[in-house]
Amino acid sequence: MKEYTIQSTVCVYSWDELAEEDQILVQAAKDATNGSYAPYSSFYVGAAVRLGNGTIVMGSNQENVAFPSGLCAERTALFAANAQYPDQPVLALAVAARNKDGFLSQPIPPCGGCCQVISEVERRFHQPIRIVLYGTDGTHVAHSIAALLPLQFSDKFLTVS
Ligand code: THU
Repeated sequence: MKEYTIQSTVCVYSWDELAEEDQILVQAAKDATNGSYAPYSSFYVGAAVRLGNGTIVMGSNQENVAFPSGLCAERTALFAANAQYPDQPVLALAVAARNKDGFLSQPIPPCGGCCQVISEVERRFHQPIRIVLYGTDGTHVAHSIAALLPLQFSDKFLTVS
């Protein structure tokens, strides 16, 4: 038997320690929760992406009575950004979530499906995406989706035998 260990680094910042650029993106993600359509979960998620040209594109979770037809905030933001600015790399993605009690103390990580899409966007633009996950107890920052999804399925597997 062989074994290998996968390590990830995530940095946790207090609000004051967070770079201004990240604070602005987190604020956009928090604002984006106001566009959430979540009548089934009452869980309001906002996402904001910063593009290479400085544009910030927001997204929020959009639910549907046929549950799988809804979409998470992260993918809503990324797909909107890529559809409107197909030539602009995504530099950073911030996520914030709140429920009836307000914003969560612990940040939520993107779900597996969103991690896979973030991974695709990194490869599409040959650009790691800074992942900024807001919680009232601290903001968690990873420098690439590789920290959250270390084993990534990619097109390279389509051709290996
Ligand atoms: N959700 C997101 O928008 N992003 C995540 O990272 C996790 C979950 C949404 C999907 C659904 O509308 C609600 O949160 C509850 O799962």
